[in-house]
Amino acid sequence: MTAIANRRIPPPRDILDPIEMASRDEIAALQLRRMKWSIEHTYAHVEHYRAKCKAAGVHPDDFRDLADLAKFPFTTKDDLRQTYPFGMFAVPMDQVVRVHASSGTTGKPTVVGYTQHDIDTWAQLMARSLRAAGGRPSDKVHIAYGYGLFTGGLGAHYGAEKLGCTVIPMSGGFTERQVRLIEDFKPEIIMVTPSYMLAIADEMERQGLDTRDCPLKIGVFGAEPWTESMRAEIEQRLGLDAIDIYGLSEVIGPGVACECIETKDGLHLWEDHFYPEIVDPETGRVLPDGELGELVFTSLTKEALPVVRYRTRDLTRLLPGTARSFRRMGKITGRSDDMLIIRGVNVFPTQIEELILKDPRLAPHYQLEVSRDGHLDSLAVTVEMRPGAWDAAAAAAAGRDLQHHIKSYIGITTRVTVTPPEAVERSQGKAKRVVDKRLKP
Ligand code: DLL
Repeated sequence: MTAIANRRIPPPRDILDPIEMASRDEIAALQLRRMKWSIEHTYAHVEHYRAKCKAAGVHPDDFRDLADLAKFPFTTKDDLRQTYPFGMFAVPMDQVVRVHASSGTTGKPTVVGYTQHDIDTWAQLMARSLRAAGGRPSDKVHIAYGYGLFTGGLGAHYGAEKLGCTVIPMSGGFTERQVRLIEDFKPEIIMVTPSYMLAIADEMERQGLDTRDCPLKIGVFGAEPWTESMRAEIEQRLGLDAIDIYGLSEVIGPGVACECIETKDGLHLWEDHFYPEIVDPETGRVLPDGELGELVFTSLTKEALPVVRYRTRDLTRLLPGTARSFRRMGKITGRSDDMLIIRGVNVFPTQIEELILKDPRLAPHYQLEVSRDGHLDSLAVTVEMRPGAWDAAAAAAAGRDLQHHIKSYIGITTRVTVTPPEAVERSQGKAKRVVDKRLKP
């Protein structure tokens, strides 16, 4: 326990990057200088964005102050799709040392590129994130984010190496082998999606291991929304500190923001490289700090794929800094495109997750299915009973209670099915929480 307790003491200032503790004025001055460069660089080298600026009647010379950013057009996933594969790159291909891509389940994949300098920045920010999470150079880091076109595995890998850790590049899948290597190599840190962490914990139990005895001290979890109740579940079950890390490929990958272990109060945004805004998802109007809306990023130093006002679709709010001078973002409540509208009521999967985890009879494995009854959308929830607690009558009672809680807290009527353990498909990466059975127009 002492090792964990020590990690929770704020790290000495001299191991942090000086900008992490700089004054807000210093941060703003750096942002202004870098943003000017980034807007000019994008305008000069990305024809597609230049055309958008011309259509909006703005020019980089109009940028004099950070508030002037609001005059510039947004960049969206659609811009990347229209220019697929490399049309938004701002440097010649011979300077691009790596590409990553999204899976492209909905249309063309989006492709992102990096110069060597971008890769170095990314590694430095992932190392900073891991250090904020409590990681130290003496740690062994088990990486179970997928390696490949997804940015999770390689992003985590380069950052952990940069911090000086011993990297175990396991990638996703092969759950039995994950458990074996955790047992044998005794890593202090695991980097994985929270949903796959649960699948690994289930496998530990299946093998008769006590999850509380596992060597892991810190989990650095991200790539999908997860709630405070899920944090409590994972920490309690595995006896580790669960830290939230955020990022997206279009902005760089993981390591855009990360929680600090000493506060665990939201994710500090690495504002020296990414400038955040919160906008109203409907109107695009910039909202003040503290208000909930869509997160938008402008990259400040990226060379190969600079983005000006990239709309993430992620919903959160900006909060003042605590453990670091940088602002924080609250946990992501969901993506605007994951929001379900059931008979006029807006619902996010995370709201259902909170209610499931409040019930000690239910396991954190669930899936939502949306279908259409006539003209109205309806929602079915499938959730597992915790191991050992299964019997049909108890399951029916737990289902009725959950249905009642969803009705009273969220205001929608659902069909709830409580299954025996192991019935809901396990994720090996990002969990698929919603199955949409509605006929597409
Ligand atoms: O998921 C990068 C990443 C890898 C982040 C590993 C953290 C850890 P994409 O595949 O481009 O990149 O997906 C980005 O995932 O816009 C969010 O909707 C979601 N997401 C990422 N981190 C979090 C998080 C990676 N901590 C999309 N909480 C983002 C909630 C997250 N959602």
